[in-house]
Amino acid sequence: MHIMRVSVIGGGYVGLVTGACFASRNAEVTIIDCDPKKVAAINRKEPPIYEEGLLEILNDCVGVTLSASHSYDSIPDADLIYICVGTPEGADGSADLSYIRQAVTDAGRRMQESRKYQVLVVKSTVPPGTVQNIVKPAVLAASGKREEEIGFGMNPEFLREGRAVHDFLNPDRIVLGADGDDAYSRMASLYESFDVMKIRTSPAAAEMIKYTANAFLATKISFSNEIGNICKQLGLDVYEVMSAVGHDSRIGPLFLNAGAGFGGSCFPKDVMALVHLATAAGVDPIILKAVLAVNENQPGRMIRLLQERCGDLAGKRIAVLGLAFKDNTDDIRESRAIPAIQLLKDAGAYVTAYDPMAATAMSEVFPDIEYCRTAAAALSHADGALIMTEWPEFCTLSEEFSLMRRQIIIDGRHMVTGPGVEGVCW
Ligand code: UDX
Repeated sequence: MHIMRVSVIGGGYVGLVTGACFASRNAEVTIIDCDPKKVAAINRKEPPIYEEGLLEILNDCVGVTLSASHSYDSIPDADLIYICVGTPEGADGSADLSYIRQAVTDAGRRMQESRKYQVLVVKSTVPPGTVQNIVKPAVLAASGKREEEIGFGMNPEFLREGRAVHDFLNPDRIVLGADGDDAYSRMASLYESFDVMKIRTSPAAAEMIKYTANAFLATKISFSNEIGNICKQLGLDVYEVMSAVGHDSRIGPLFLNAGAGFGGSCFPKDVMALVHLATAAGVDPIILKAVLAVNENQPGRMIRLLQERCGDLAGKRIAVLGLAFKDNTDDIRESRAIPAIQLLKDAGAYVTAYDPMAATAMSEVFPDIEYCRTAAAALSHADGALIMTEWPEFCTLSEEFSLMRRQIIIDGRHMVTGPGVEGVCW
């Protein structure tokens, strides 16, 4: 088997995991990143982010099949060039493609030096048409090459943070959007050792598949939240309802957990980008807008439930348990704890907060709330508490609640039972 040479542009969470996993499957990988600290850390076998299994791969592969660099010197020799730079949310909600444009132009300039057929693949989440209408012309212009000398592809990722290495190495399917047979064969041979269904599409369809998958998962969550809001009004537990509903194989049991709503670097941003591109295409995305609206409302519902039991929150001591957007990460991007804390502050509450990993990150958003080292310390003398993140350790909380001045607990993640506990949707 010919060993593939892969240059991965962007050493963030997607690029690093992609590069490391390809390197662990015998490709020769260079990760290119402009941050010298990140490059040095990778070359020292120190993962700049926490991902289960990543350290082991860096230990095995750095210096053998994996290296990092701030230069584009590996590009001329690469068989495949993977673009893994960020596509943040622009001011109007559309995907900001400026990093993509920069990366593919820089790559194109160095591809000029190559004598062989190369394939440039976008892994970043980009709107349908980006590879064909933006990336391809930019690379051809920068490289001065003819169309048949470069193949183009789109290979979306479906990785969950914290489980990204596992998800990369054990995918449900691999989507390969290719602009021709040669580009497809090159991408398929990179994934040769993956014994799983490979779906060939056009680049634009692959781009749409990524948005659609995320939008559907976000829809399942908002749908469960809406059913949960109805169930609560009727005195029912949405978890009992959804666990039976999820046994229908047409529906499936996953992503039906009602509660505080979804956060993270993908769902809110990608659904928003899809709303934006639907509107630009002349379609009113009724369901997608509702998905976002339900999600925005859930933290406010939790505060209202708290107010119903605590009364006016001004001067009250309220504990917020969980700051990360989900468990097992220190990532707070779009965490539902952010609007919840903001609403508590607006109402004049004194906020104490606890998270096993994310307190430092949150202290940059809210420097003026009290961060505690344990859940017990945050709960001590509190007039009320909110549970915002599904950290497994919260399931074992019980005695700690007796430290509160009044035992009023609004659970946003279905973690605890007992006196004074009320769920947001159950
Ligand atoms: C998600 C997708 O799962 C992944 O395929 C995509 O590539 C990136 O976005 P991630 O953001 O890492 O991954 O986290 P995920 O585990 O999917 O959870 C996202 C958010 O939804 C979290 O805030 C979580 O608390 C919430 N969630 C998840 C629910 O509220 N209910 C659920 O049933 C599942």
